Amino acid sequence: MAFHKINITINGGLEQVVVPSNMTLMQMLRETVALTGTKNGCSAGECGACTVLLNGEPVNSCMVLAVECDGAKIVTVEGLAGDKQLDPIQEAIIEAGGVQCGFCTPGILISSRALLDRNPNPSDEEIREGLVGNLCRCTGYMRIVVAVKKAARMKMVPAPVSMASD
Ligand code: FES
Ligand code: FES
Repeated sequence: MAFHKINITINGGLEQVVVPSNMTLMQMLRETVALTGTKNGCSAGECGACTVLLNGEPVNSCMVLAVECDGAKIVTVEGLAGDKQLDPIQEAIIEAGGVQCGFCTPGILISSRALLDRNPNPSDEEIREGLVGNLCRCTGYMRIVVAVKKAARMKMVPAPVSMASD
């Protein structure tokens, strides 16, 4: 098995990590840098629980090799909140009751954040489309949709670390 040294920016901090060729980004986040907010629901690109932002775009981190992320910027759910303030989508999902078991929530938050960054005022249909890759077995999605609409109405905090220009 070959190993590779990669440089990767995670939630605004530059990390240098050594990864085997077959390690996924999800495994690296959870096992190498201990960011366990990114969840492993299926390891097969089906559930969206492992969604992170890769250079500003939401991806299933179980389907991306860590070695492919050399030089990339990653934002995980741990990177959404500021020092003293939750991201509006985090506040909104709490207020709307869009969390039950919470397993899908990190992926839902990341996908919602990405949706709101490209479409600040999405319709219900656009929200459901934006979250089509994120499965939730608990909520029935209605309160999640309410949360995204609520977040869209809230005053937006500065762009997350992935979106900030260099
Ligand atoms: S764990 Fe990656 S899509 Fe399910
Ligand atoms: S809150 Fe349980 S899977 Fe979504």
